[in-house]
Amino acid sequence: MAGQPDCKREPKRLVTQVVGPAEGISAAAALLAAGEVVALPTETVYGLGAAALEASACAKIFEAKDRPLSDPLIVHLPSRDWLDQVAEVCETASRLAEHFWPGPLTLVLPRRSLVPDLVTAGEETVAVRMSSHPIFQAVLQAYGKPVAAPSANRFGRISPTSAEDVVAELGGRIPLVLDGGPCAHGVESTIVLVREGELHILRHGPVTAEELARFGTVRGRVAGISAPGGLASHYAPRTPLVIGEAHAAAEHLRKWHHATGGTGVPPVLVGGRCSVSAHGFPRSEIWDGTAAIPPASPTPVPPVDLLAGDRPSVRVGLLSWRSAGKGFQHVEFLSKTQDLREAAANLYGAMRRLDAAGLDLIIAEPVPETGLGAAIMERLRKAAAR
Ligand code: TXA
Ligand code: MG
Repeated sequence: MAGQPDCKREPKRLVTQVVGPAEGISAAAALLAAGEVVALPTETVYGLGAAALEASACAKIFEAKDRPLSDPLIVHLPSRDWLDQVAEVCETASRLAEHFWPGPLTLVLPRRSLVPDLVTAGEETVAVRMSSHPIFQAVLQAYGKPVAAPSANRFGRISPTSAEDVVAELGGRIPLVLDGGPCAHGVESTIVLVREGELHILRHGPVTAEELARFGTVRGRVAGISAPGGLASHYAPRTPLVIGEAHAAAEHLRKWHHATGGTGVPPVLVGGRCSVSAHGFPRSEIWDGTAAIPPASPTPVPPVDLLAGDRPSVRVGLLSWRSAGKGFQHVEFLSKTQDLREAAANLYGAMRRLDAAGLDLIIAEPVPETGLGAAIMERLRKAAAR
């Protein structure tokens, strides 16, 4: 279609400046006013912002991220007053905004015509939120209008939770990263579609289902609404990742290598999906290491630790929830005190470091699926799906 950005074209190389808030706030506001993109810290993850009401500015977001035009953007508001200008606001939505804003809750509501089609990807709804991050708020106050901002990563990759992460994703493609330090929550906002007084959680996040239940019946996805980051595979490290218990995974790998003499990652893991339950998790999603072990080995398996050997035949990393991670080549701990908030804040950084460690496989331990655990498990499942 004429006038649409060509996302396949390599965006022109820019010098990406990283600046702190002292000089960055006015510089970011000026870039937004000039129709440019700029990476900004929010309380969830870093966003790549552009003038939400200017289609040509928002087009640069899609271009920098290699994002398909079918994936709509979240509109971030400078103040609650803007909400009625961009969306039709029902009583339930109004109460949610009143209670949770500014904060990590995105509302999907019927749109108004002020919002460009490019932002909503032609949908009749618009996603809106108000960030509580003081630097983000200061930029929006200085700019004075809504800012469209997806997470500041290339499409399908792990969301950035620090300025360095943004540079790793988008360096050379954007002019400015405003450095506000690490993000407090570390996972993206909860997205809720409000319809007929019911709340449909399209993406789990820092505002939990339990908290939302006070404002209406909480339901899952709705037929016909493409879920955010709708693809099964998203938030993906390049290294294959499976969800499983560390001890069981290590045992499986040891047996597999012994029984087959094979090297590398056991084929059953390459597709990402394994089976069998542990700690009460659904059988189809959590791997306890017993799936697809080759026929029983005629000789007892010697007690060698293949993972820790001098020349390991497979390099395996662990994203640990509760294990010490003995024998793994690289271990990242979500939270040594099993605190789900700390785990969420560490999740993406830990996934990035594991991905950079030159591993053949990442084992991610499941976390309890209550409160913020639902958001963490949703990301791990997407990282595991290929
Ligand atoms: O925490 C966050 O929400 C971060 C920060 C920067 O605000 N933003 C963020 O944006 O995560 P993004 O684009 O990476 O994820 C937003 C998701 C997308 O997967 C998109 O498909 C979905 O929201 N979305 C946007 N508008 C929608 C709509 N009208 N209906 C359903 N889903 C929508
Ligand atoms: Mg994203």
